[in-house]
Amino acid sequence: MSNPVTWTRDNGVLVVTIDNPPVNALSPGVLEGIVEGVEAGAADEEVRAIVVIGAGKTFIAGADIREFPKIIAGERPMLSLNPLLDRIENAPKPVVMALHGSALGGGLEVAMAGHYRVAAPSTQLGQPEVKLGLIPGAGGTQRLPRLVGVERALRMCVFGNPIAAREASELGLVDALIDGDLPTGAMAYARTLQAPRRTRDLTLQSAEEHVIEKIRDEARRRMRGHAAPLSALEVVCAADIFDFDEGLAFEARIFQSLLTGPQAKALIHLFFSERETAKLPFVPKGTKTREVRRAAILGAGTMGRAIALCFANAGLPVQLSDSSPAALEAAMAWIRRHYENAEQQGRLPAEEAARRLARIQAAASVKEFADAGLIVEAVSENLELKRAVFAELDAVAPEGCLLASNTSTLDIDALAAATNRPPDVLGLHFFAPANVMRLLEVVRGADTSPEVIATAMELARRLRKIAVVAGNRFGFIGNRMFAPYREAAIQCVQEGALPWVVDQALEQFGMAMGPLAVGDLAGLDIGHAIRREAGLPPTVEDALVEAGRLGQKNGRGWYLWQGNRRSSDPGVEKVVRAWSEERGIAHRTFAARDIVDRCVEALRAEGRKVIEEGIALRASDIDIVYVNGYGYPAWRGGPMFEG
Ligand code: 3HC
Ligand code: NAI
Repeated sequence: MSNPVTWTRDNGVLVVTIDNPPVNALSPGVLEGIVEGVEAGAADEEVRAIVVIGAGKTFIAGADIREFPKIIAGERPMLSLNPLLDRIENAPKPVVMALHGSALGGGLEVAMAGHYRVAAPSTQLGQPEVKLGLIPGAGGTQRLPRLVGVERALRMCVFGNPIAAREASELGLVDALIDGDLPTGAMAYARTLQAPRRTRDLTLQSAEEHVIEKIRDEARRRMRGHAAPLSALEVVCAADIFDFDEGLAFEARIFQSLLTGPQAKALIHLFFSERETAKLPFVPKGTKTREVRRAAILGAGTMGRAIALCFANAGLPVQLSDSSPAALEAAMAWIRRHYENAEQQGRLPAEEAARRLARIQAAASVKEFADAGLIVEAVSENLELKRAVFAELDAVAPEGCLLASNTSTLDIDALAAATNRPPDVLGLHFFAPANVMRLLEVVRGADTSPEVIATAMELARRLRKIAVVAGNRFGFIGNRMFAPYREAAIQCVQEGALPWVVDQALEQFGMAMGPLAVGDLAGLDIGHAIRREAGLPPTVEDALVEAGRLGQKNGRGWYLWQGNRRSSDPGVEKVVRAWSEERGIAHRTFAARDIVDRCVEALRAEGRKVIEEGIALRASDIDIVYVNGYGYPAWRGGPMFEG
């Protein structure tokens, strides 16, 4: 490999350039190279200041995550970047870090070891380590609070979300924004500097106890079960108690214990799995994708209207239509309210909310879809209806337009057969609420072309969704696996575990919601109808439906419901007991562990079949589906992850 770090002198400034594609991660040798460059500048009498900059599309996206599994396996020594960063910070001449693209994790830590920071306005700066089950491990927890105060540093290190350069400059993390050419601007800035300014010497602004408590509570709520955010909180707070070097030592200890623990292993697995989903053996390298400039949606119900938001939020104009003018009107009113609320609650600036709203146009009929690059069908779940709709869309859609169905259960090939263009037909299975859930199953029919799949994957990226390709079989990946998982939970009830005990066991395991409560939200009559139609043996859930318990919608299902609050119901116990007695099934007691083992094993067993049948391309795709669409705890790595 050619040297990833090089330097040149330009009129009194030494420019050190990092070139380690794709994201200038700190692979072995990179930070050493930067230090060498900085020290060469320090030793050169003609150099007054040093600029460190990234080649390509970014500054530094962090430590090299590919190294972590090797460190965990003991094949590489533990990361030890601090002595190198100290050498940058101790340089006797001003060091300016010139940022663009991403300055994340170790990248931001390198930037903060420099004396000054300038940035292109589009730069993202952050400490995202908690998303990998880690905390910053190269001084981030100690330098960041000295630059932006404890409260902001806590927010960045505990939740892991990046901030934009403009905000960073308001906070003092960035000293100057450079609008034009970054190297030129950075050098000009460097020439104005007189002396170094070490971050470690700055005085930090403390946070009040109640502020810290609020962040702690928020972390417990938003990142339930994750160990790293609470550790990050303790270590950032330590910056206000310990001196700098003690703080670094504390950070190093916690970083190491997290890196070798189970959660980091699971979350690093998910990081790579997420990127793996886009690698498709049936899409030849270099496959061209189609340009989608406008989208259209038919069916403006629960799903259609929320899918419209996804496009508008991503900057794509979208038309929305429905056979019922009243439904369309209701959907447009709902969309307007959505953006009004976002604006009122401070989630979107007024101009941005207005721009997004303006991208969604009501269309009286599909005839107005003649410019669409993609049409998503989201009409009611009925095969004959959808076939008729696909024939209708085929007649109006322009050549090259992708025709997608949001169906949860129907055969994509049967829909494709209703058109004269089966290669352009696919499933795009969004999850409710579509504007919130990140998962998108891209369903590949027998004739769907690789180009169409590649276009859908690219589009998903624009929509900020995580797309997973699924084969065209009932339930695709996610719902197919959910059925036996729920059945296992129901069986536990039939054998004597109370429904709330079952749900609680799985929620303590980390599931966002127990499967019986999920059933109540969806409506128990749905599963009842499917089981009856498929001639499956009845379960105690059918007895609940027959007793008029349909779930949240009529206030009684597995639980009693008051709005979104659920409570246990002795009436359910009676139904269950009678059901089991009638069939001679003896009730026994269950330990939480038994319930979890049984339900999760059912999920895994079906997952293995899904892979064998080629419905999922790989086990890690299933992990991505379950973590992003079904509330499986990310810190466990997904149902197929072995640890
Ligand atoms: N290390 C190694 N590889 C990385 C990497 C990293 N830090 N960041 C990204 N990559 C790789 C990806 O795996 C991918 O490889 P592939 O093409 O072979 O699949 C490639 O770079 C491109 O990545 P994306 O597809 O994600 O590209 P995007 O342009 O969509 O996003 C990004 C770029 C915002 C930088 C995103 O990749 C990202 O968020 N990366 C991770 C950032 C991060 O978590 N940094 C902290 C690392 S931990 C750390 O620094 C510890 C320190 O405190 C000591
Ligand atoms: P919905 O009942 O809320 O909306 C369906 C809409 O389609 C209604 O507004 C109806 O007027 C309209 N419609 C019916 N026939 C039409 C026609 N011929 N032309 C134009 N519009 C027509 O249904 P929902 O929940 O939005 O579901 C839509 C699709 O999304 C279904 O295929 C469903 O299986 C799927 N889906 C639903 C999820 C959910 O959680 N609700 C999740 C994922 C997929």
